[in-house]
Amino acid sequence: MALSLLLHLLGLFLVVERLSIAAQTANISLGSSLTASQGSFAWQSPFGTFAFGFRRIVDQDLFLLAIWYDKIPDKTIVWYANGDNPAPKGSKLELTADGQLTLTGHRSQEIWKPQSVLSGRVAYAAMLDTGNFVLANNNGDYLWQSFKELKDTVLPTQVLEIGEKLNSRQTANNFSQGSFQLQLKSDGRLVLYPIGLPTEVAYQPYYQSNTSDAVDEMNSGYQLSFNESGYLNVVRRNGDIDKLINKTLLPIRDYYYRATLDSDGLFTQYAHPKSSKNGSWTSWSPVWSIPDNICFEANGDLGSGPCGYNSYCRLNANRRPICECLPGFSSLDPNNKLSGSNE
Ligand SMILES: *[C@@H]1O[C@H](CO)[C@@H](O)[C@H](O)[C@H]1NC(C)=O
Ligand SMILES: *[C@@H]1O[C@H](CO)[C@@H](O)[C@H](O)[C@H]1NC(C)=O
Ligand SMILES: *[C@@H]1O[C@H](CO)[C@@H](O)[C@H](O)[C@H]1NC(C)=O
Ligand SMILES: *[C@@H]1O[C@H](CO)[C@@H](O)[C@H](O)[C@H]1NC(C)=O
Ligand SMILES: *[C@@H]1O[C@H](CO)[C@@H](O)[C@H](O)[C@H]1NC(C)=O
Ligand SMILES: *[C@@H]1O[C@H](CO)[C@@H](O)[C@H](O)[C@H]1NC(C)=O
Repeated sequence: MALSLLLHLLGLFLVVERLSIAAQTANISLGSSLTASQGSFAWQSPFGTFAFGFRRIVDQDLFLLAIWYDKIPDKTIVWYANGDNPAPKGSKLELTADGQLTLTGHRSQEIWKPQSVLSGRVAYAAMLDTGNFVLANNNGDYLWQSFKELKDTVLPTQVLEIGEKLNSRQTANNFSQGSFQLQLKSDGRLVLYPIGLPTEVAYQPYYQSNTSDAVDEMNSGYQLSFNESGYLNVVRRNGDIDKLINKTLLPIRDYYYRATLDSDGLFTQYAHPKSSKNGSWTSWSPVWSIPDNICFEANGDLGSGPCGYNSYCRLNANRRPICECLPGFSSLDPNNKLSGSNE
């Protein structure tokens, strides 16, 4: 009994010890930098789950500053800083001596910097095992975090507050802002809707959660929570939760999860096994998505629906929209079947 307790405590001690060593390796000190080039060095999280660094855009000599799942062959990108403004080779990310994080090009022109950094003195940066990249002060308070500068993906442990938005990207390999947004509205609804670019004018939603209560505000949603077991919930002010996923997930011990507002407008949760089976890897598989039928839901009054103007929409076997041109029209951008079409 006493021996087993002792062994147990020893085990705990070893775990704590390992965590603290790992945490130090993740502490990126002031004056550190990364350079955009193929196969360049990246900053890894303590257990190596995520990495932060430069990724070359397919078929281009341009780079994204990104965070990706690093232990799987896909190296799936879950966050990107400069989607609308990819960086040429040789660009430099610096965590300066005075605590500024900046991405600059050859002629020292600024390409990207974090938005809304809280006031205070940045003491270090860290790539965490949750997928969050943070700038912290000496007390370990986060002055900026990638989890609060949202792109198209949320990860387990991440929370969206009222007013925060996800933006889809243009296509799988083009990280410019795309035509769809997800937002938790001030009345508590989680909504998905198309936008007009570049103005970002919002069209009618093609999905909305039933989590707004005009009579009792405490019964309205105020957070979208991707909890540590991998479930997405709208949390109401009174603490009640509305599950978005109506099924039991494979255990998060064995699977990586992400939920992405895809380029075709579906908000999709994906799972990926953490290890290979018999030497071969399977890729991400969709677990769940909303809405059920985007062609039906997003036939858009003012907007153009998921297919853009002059196209019509049908669903493939995976409930994904396929856009076909109306007779006499051709696609505006043949690489982007969702961009609408022209005469
Ligand atoms: C990271 O660096 C800061 C500043 O040097 C230090 O105060 C903090 O203890 C370090 N954190 C870890 C986990 O090593
Ligand atoms: C991505 O798409 C946008 C809009 O179609 C285009 O302006 C931009 O050049 C593309 N970016 C890259 C890196 O190809
Ligand atoms: C929305 O929720 C309310 C209260 O829970 C319920 O009465 C109503 O039927 C729901 N509406 C829809 C469209 O599901
Ligand atoms: C996550 O949410 C699900 C409901 O969607 C709940 O059953 C589960 O207990 C939650 N897990 C944690 C760790 O809060
Ligand atoms: C969950 O799924 C079951 C079976 O598909 C269905 O009967 C039930 O109504 C669903 N519940 C919710 C809250 O969507
Ligand atoms: C593992 O792979 C080998 C060779 O591809 C195959 O012969 C074998 O049946 C596989 N085993 C399992 C359990 O899938």
